[in-house]
Formats: sequence, structure tokens, C-alpha cells
Amino acid sequence: MSKFAIVPGSFDPITAGHFEIIRRAAAIFDRVTVAILVNSEKAGTFSPDERLEAANAAIRELEKDGITNVDARVFRGLTVDAARDAGAGYIVKGLRNTSDFDYEFGMAEITRRFDENIETVFLPSSPEFMHVSSTYVREILKYGKGDCRAFAPGTEEIIKKFYEKK
Ligand code: PNS
Repeated sequence: MSKFAIVPGSFDPITAGHFEIIRRAAAIFDRVTVAILVNSEKAGTFSPDERLEAANAAIRELEKDGITNVDARVFRGLTVDAARDAGAGYIVKGLRNTSDFDYEFGMAEITRRFDENIETVFLPSSPEFMHVSSTYVREILKYGKGDCRAFAPGTEEIIKKFYEKK
């Protein structure tokens, strides 16, 4: 049976750390959807459309490397519902540290209670991305010159353009 996973997150914006997890998920699963979760109570820095455009730019970089089983969609509500709506059997999350573990372990438990057919799979972050976060990227944008390695490949210009308009 085909194995289909979502990689959920705020992706506000997508980072090099997210990119690495998505790339590795694409090697494990037959199909991967980057699920951009929009929180109705938290506006975020980038709009859902901007986050989607940046994610699609990163996906185009994967395609250049022959990775063609990834797409991106925006979802509202719970992650478990996003997985169900998409028809995915797996939720993939990257873990950078013990704080991520504590949070994601709870999320995985809640997900299982809602739907025991959806399995959560954790991928450990590579050391070079352990300190990369969307917050870090937003701070680079806000305070000027920064570490471009924090941006997902293919997204730097697009993310800067969106940010400069704000
Ligand atoms: O990129 P992030 O901010 O670490 O992503 C977190 C996200 C969006 C995956 C997480 O907050 C989430 O799943 N939010 C959706 C709401 C939800 O499913 N909550 C579960 C508790 S009931």
C-alpha cells in the first residue's frame, strides 16, 4: 500500500531545517504533503498564501534533484484533521532538542487518541539545523545581515520580498 505522510508546521516561514526534514521524509514515504497549519487566533508574520508560495519554491528545488513526490497545501484546524483530510496515514515531525520532544510527544499522544490509524513518525534533526527555526529566520530578516543557511534553498529572495512589503 502506498505510504502517504504530511509534514505539518506553521512554516512562518519555511526554513532550511524544515527543508531537510521534508527531503528525508520524501525518501521514506511514497508521497509527502507539506501541511501549512493556519492558526485562526495567531496571524503570524507571513500570510498563508506567502507561506505556501515559499514552500512551493522549496519544493521546486527538490524537483531539481529529481524528488517529485512532494506538494504543499494550507490547512485550518487540527493537524490530525489535516492528515485525515489529505488522506495521509502518517505525520512526520522533526525533532531538534528535548523541548521539541516534550511538545511533539504530547501532540503524538493526542493524535493517536483522535485517530489510531494515523501514526506519528519523528526524524531527528541533523546537527547543522538544530538551532534553525522560523523565529531565527524572522530575526535575520528584521535585523539585517544574517546567516543565509537558515533559509530553505530557493526561498531566500521570495521570503525577503514578502517581508520587505510588510
Ligand atoms: O512549525 P510549528 O509552529 O512547530 O508547528 C506546530 C503545529 C502547527 C504543527 C502545531 O501547533 C499544530 O499541530 N497546530 C494545529 C492545532 C493542533 O492540532 N493542536 C493539537 C492540540 S489539540
